[in-house]
Order: sequence, then structure tokens, then C-alpha cells
Amino acid sequence: MLSYQHQYHAGNHADVLKHWLLIECVKYLQKKDKPFDYIDTHAGAGMYGLNSVEALKTGESRAGVLKLDWPNLKGFEEYHALVAKDLAQARYPGSPELVNRLLREGDHSWLFELHPQTLQELQRHCQTQRKTYVKQQDGFQGLLSLLPTKSRRALVLIDPSYEIKSDYQTVVQILAKAYQKMPQVMALLWYPVVDRSFISAMEREIKKTAMRNVQLFELCVAADEAKGMTGSGLIALNPPWLLAESFERVIPAVAKMLAQSESHQWRWVELIPE
Ligand SMILES: C[S@@+](CC[C@H](N)C(=O)[O-])C[C@H]1O[C@@H](n2cnc3c(N)ncnc32)[C@H](O)[C@@H]1O
Repeated sequence: MLSYQHQYHAGNHADVLKHWLLIECVKYLQKKDKPFDYIDTHAGAGMYGLNSVEALKTGESRAGVLKLDWPNLKGFEEYHALVAKDLAQARYPGSPELVNRLLREGDHSWLFELHPQTLQELQRHCQTQRKTYVKQQDGFQGLLSLLPTKSRRALVLIDPSYEIKSDYQTVVQILAKAYQKMPQVMALLWYPVVDRSFISAMEREIKKTAMRNVQLFELCVAADEAKGMTGSGLIALNPPWLLAESFERVIPAVAKMLAQSESHQWRWVELIPE
């Protein structure tokens, strides 16, 4: 197991959607002075070279972050400010590094990563601050052990690689348990669009849970029938209340820029109301 390596995919269209939404959530939580905890269940390395052998092999960042016409993307200013220097040096920060850069005094981050080599890189890039805890532990279990957080405010990113097909069911169970332990938790659950039937099943399962206020944000760069990962989405629990509006305003232009075919599309769905 553990064969997935994010350096092949860093900066692709899925990272664009995920990281923009993640930053929007952090910004929203930081409107209040009260500290919060950030929990990244599948943290990855924290920083990726865009000219590495792995990155050049797939070229995914060229069809992702490097394809964006940043100055003409209204609503992406904060995201751009966070990554501009890295892009100029042919590298791209992962979710833990992006959030760490935004943490204030009193905020904390909890980063889970199982792969030994990736863990070392994560420690090197992200364990530079006293407010960051890096753990070599299963992120699903790690998350549940931390909830409810002492801060009473938490943002969670659940970003597994779905190498195991049962992950599509596991993630829903974990999200529902997280809600049970801390109903006010804000969480983003990432999923790839590779086989549409898995996503439809996941949506049906989510609707059967006791969770409230669950929304879906999806961006596809090609038709479902095309080969490989044609898009991705995030299931958001307790998202910022204006996030759907921002998404509908900003993402159509992003979808157009990253389109790999005429069939690109995006969707927002309220899966469960408040
Ligand atoms: C998709 S990558 C993470 C990307 C990162 N969240 C980002 O946006 O920059 C998934 C990571 O999860 C790690 N991983 C796999 N299974 C795990 C588990 N059960 N607990 C924690 N980490 C795991 C993998 O080694 C890989 O580095």
C-alpha cells in the first residue's frame, strides 16, 4: 500500500479547486479573533518541485496552476498572493504549507501523514513553527481523536488518494463521526471524478447521515466519459455561508481556463440543508 505520491499531481486542476476553497474557509474563520485548529488528515509533503522528474512526467501542473491567467481571475487574489513566489521558483505548496502561512498566534495545525519519506519532507517544510504538530498516524483515526477540539473551532481537510475503493464509503463514515463528535466542525472532503457512479453513491450515503448543512463543490475539466480523472470536488460540512456565491461567481472562469474539452463543467449542490 501507500503507493500514491502527490508530487506527480501537485498543482493540477484538483489542487486548484481544493486549495482555493481551503483558503476561503481559513479566511472566513479568521474573521473572528478566536483561535481555531486546522486538521489535515492526509497532509502530503507540504511542498513540491514543479520541475521534478515526477512532475514533468505527468505535466499536470502545466494543465493546472501554470495554466491560470491569475491577473484575470477575480476572487483568486489571496490564493495567488500565497503561491506567486513559489510558482516563480517552479515549486508549489501543498495544503499544510498554504494553511500554515495563514495561521495566527493561537491557531494550530495538526498534520497526519503515513508515508515515511513524505513525512520527512512534511516535517522539513512544515514543522518549523511551534503551532504545528506533525504525526505519523492514520489521518482518519487521528482526526477523530482530536475532536472536539479545545478551541471549539476547527477546520478539517480530508484528502485521501482513494487507492482503496472502500475509501469512498470510509470517508462518509468518518465525516459523519466527526460531525457527531463536533457538530459545528467545518470540514472539506475531497473526491476525484474518475467513475461517476462512485460519486453518486457517495452523495446518496451522505444524505442518509444525521449531518446538517452539507454542500458539494465540483469542477470538471472534461466529460465524465473521458479517460482518467476528469474532475474533482469537495463535500463541505458547515461551509462559510457565502462560499456558494463566491464559487458560482469565480469558478466558471477557472473552468474555462482549465478546460481540456468543450464538455468542461462545474456544479454546486446543497446535499443537506442547515
Ligand atoms: C492527496 S495526498 C495529500 C495532498 C495534500 N492534502 C495537499 O493538498 O497538498 C494524500 C497523502 O496521504 C498520505 N496517506 C495515505 N494514507 C494515509 C492515512 N491513512 N493517513 C494519513 N496519510 C495517509 C499519502 O502518503 C499522501 O501523501
